[in-house]
Amino acid sequence: MSHLLFTPVTLPTPDGHGLAVGNRAFVAPMCQYSVDDLDGVPTDWHLSHLGALAAGGFGLVVAEATAVEARGRISPKDLGLWDAGQVAPHARLVDFIHGQGRAAGVQLGHAGGKASTWPMLPGSDDGTTIPADQGGWPTVSADDAPVMPSMAAAGALTEAQIAEVVDAFAGAARRADDAGYDVVQLHAAHGYLIHQFLSPLTNHRTDGYGGDLAGRSRLLREVVAAVREVWPDSKPLGIRVSATDWVDDGLHVGEVAEVLRDLVAAGQVSWIDVSTGGLTDGSTIPVGPGYQVPLAQEVTRTLADAGLGEDAAVVSTVGVIVDATQAETILATGQAHAVSIGRAALVNPHWAAVAASQLRVPRAELPHAPQYFRANF
Ligand SMILES: Cc1cc2nc3c(=O)[nH]c(=O)nc-3n(C[C@H](O)[C@H](O)[C@H](O)COP(=O)(O)O)c2cc1C
Repeated sequence: MSHLLFTPVTLPTPDGHGLAVGNRAFVAPMCQYSVDDLDGVPTDWHLSHLGALAAGGFGLVVAEATAVEARGRISPKDLGLWDAGQVAPHARLVDFIHGQGRAAGVQLGHAGGKASTWPMLPGSDDGTTIPADQGGWPTVSADDAPVMPSMAAAGALTEAQIAEVVDAFAGAARRADDAGYDVVQLHAAHGYLIHQFLSPLTNHRTDGYGGDLAGRSRLLREVVAAVREVWPDSKPLGIRVSATDWVDDGLHVGEVAEVLRDLVAAGQVSWIDVSTGGLTDGSTIPVGPGYQVPLAQEVTRTLADAGLGEDAAVVSTVGVIVDATQAETILATGQAHAVSIGRAALVNPHWAAVAASQLRVPRAELPHAPQYFRANF
């Protein structure tokens, strides 16, 4: 049986060589809230979690939202890459992933006005701001209004402070390279800082970082340019976007696709992971199997119309993709070039090996760790 999910994919790079990834099942970045000392440093949990996913056969394993500066953490227990001391523990994760023959990615992010919230662990009051006397910190955003009703007001970044944030992204990217990561994914989704600037829901600025699409996308474009400066030409740069806010007065896929098309055409970005939402209560989001696939398809089509196919940028889709046939159908119908798997990978870290077996990949080619050869995938 032919299958696309377990055919290799190349993430294009400016030097023309590309990053070869063994298959098209990627791990979606997922916060683990497992930084014990609140210092952004990966722990044994991260090694165990990402290690299992690498052993389980995913072609690209992407570490969770990793803060480019301490105040950009979603929660105090997030990973970071704002300090040189964080590099070696990240390198330990990368080395294990590479040892399994997988590509290693890291999502670099800044939570902006959605920072300083409680970790999403059982019993926590997640989605609300941590008070200062309980370890919370002041947050920043495009505007000085609260980004969500349950969160504290943020401080609107000045232009000089925006430049510092851009520098922080570049510094973190340099450290991600030092740690050996193959891919950086910029977090421009889910209502965090870059999305706060992109969306008319949370950006009412009257300076050059607000207003029309050119203004609202300026922070993203500056971050991409600054990261691309320090991120090697031999490595692909990705972006995760929220392609829509799912409300009329929010961000729409046409705008997002236009910005992405220009970044891909400029040769700066070569992997786009298409998610949605993050700035509303979610009540208008039609969550269901593959509900975000049409958005990925729209981005794929916009790029293709500009002559930008998989050889220019790989588009991955995410969101309630749970089984092999579903994933295979998405790829076979050209709606995306790869799939990112989130919760299904938490349920079963060996999701990829099982999916390969279901798609009748020959037993000797199943993407599992050799130690699991005798398992009946
Ligand atoms: C525990 C958990 C943590 C998450 N953390 C992140 C994150 O760090 N960055 C991000 O962009 N999305 C994050 N997400 C969203 C997932 O990457 C994914 O987009 C979402 O779960 C939908 O995909 P799924 O239906 O396959 O789970 C998280 C999701 C879960 C369940």
